[in-house]
Amino acid sequence: MRVHVLNGPNLGRLGTRQVDVYGVTSYADLVTMCEKTGRELGLDVVVRQTDAEHELLGWLHEAADEGAAVVLNPAAWSHYSIAVRDACAMLRGPLVEVHISNIHAREEFRHHSVVSAVATGVICGLGVDGYRLALHHLAQRLADGAA
Ligand code: DQA
Repeated sequence: MRVHVLNGPNLGRLGTRQVDVYGVTSYADLVTMCEKTGRELGLDVVVRQTDAEHELLGWLHEAADEGAAVVLNPAAWSHYSIAVRDACAMLRGPLVEVHISNIHAREEFRHHSVVSAVATGVICGLGVDGYRLALHHLAQRLADGAA
């Protein structure tokens, strides 16, 4: 199964960005970890990051056309992008929304994600391990025949 692991704005700065909130794992390390996990689970994992909303929309359209699964950290777009939510609503495969930090324990404007209502499930507050857990869930779902 093809899994698109998509990351929104500023996540390319992981490792140096607010390390007290997001940890010391770099974006490059996150990519390596997702690819390794994907190989171990027999998933065809593609990891991407963008600071341009139209680029993320294009990748979501691609995933929708393929009927692929998506692991998405929409970052700041989570909180206000109806365009990202609408693109997520077009997906035919499962969507796991991931946040590295616990958005509910942070500023009030981060408590609501417009994407969550169209996601299959949400993981937040478990650091970059959330991505690994999301991939394990998708592999198990596939094995259960529920993808
Ligand atoms: C984030 C949380 C968002 O509020 C923030 O804008 C991000 C990252 C997270 O992974 O914890 O950029 O999605």
